[in-house]
Amino acid sequence: MLTIPVLTSEQLILRPFETADVALVSRYAADPAVADRVSRSAIEYQSPEQWIDQQHVNFEEANYLTLAITQRAGGQLLGCITQTHYEADEHAELDYWIAKPYWNRGYATEAGRLMLDYTFDCWQLRRVFACHFATNPASGRVLEKLGFTREGVLRQHYCADNVFEDLVYWGLLRHEWARDRVHRRPV
Ligand SMILES: CC(C)(COP(=O)(O)OP(=O)(O)OC[C@H]1O[C@@H](n2cnc3c(N)ncnc32)[C@H](O)[C@@H]1OP(=O)(O)O)[C@@H](O)C(=O)NCCC(=O)NCCS
Repeated sequence: MLTIPVLTSEQLILRPFETADVALVSRYAADPAVADRVSRSAIEYQSPEQWIDQQHVNFEEANYLTLAITQRAGGQLLGCITQTHYEADEHAELDYWIAKPYWNRGYATEAGRLMLDYTFDCWQLRRVFACHFATNPASGRVLEKLGFTREGVLRQHYCADNVFEDLVYWGLLRHEWARDRVHRRPV
């Protein structure tokens, strides 16, 4: 049986979600500051318990990796990061959210780097892509800091509460990630 990895950086530990996280996940994910900025597929699940169980199945089938973003000092749960693997196309989609009290401290960027390093190392990937609502520039900034290139906008592509949102798409190719990694300070 494959075990979901634990990934560590300077400030963060990314680890599998546990049943004890359910109450906080439910509260954080229901906050409109998060819920209004993510797509239905990222947060819609039958129950948090089933969502956590499903993560193990998804990882076994090598099509999905979801990790809790936690503080290395103290263990506080901060958010969630997911990468969905489309094997036939050798690409993956990156999604993330951080609970509002912890925004703008670099956590999403640091978690993104850990996830990209793990998946480029362990999965057969040519590229990783991500998207966000055009009304959510903070997410675009995270992707920019991770080395992604803004590739285009799908206008009025997504209906959220009867508002048709433009979606901004970003991509990171394997050689771009490898080049950026070489210049990074080792943790
Ligand atoms: C987007 C999100 C994940 C960012 O998390 P975070 O931990 O605050 O991200 P970081 O601290 O690593 O980086 C945020 C960057 O956005 C910038 N930023 C914040 N608000 C901004 C705004 N309104 N316009 C432009 N940039 C903004 C910050 O200044 C920072 O950039 P800097 O380091 O150059 O100063 C978080 O706001 C969130 O969870 N939002 C709700 C869910 C969501 O949007 N998920 C992504 C959907 S694809």
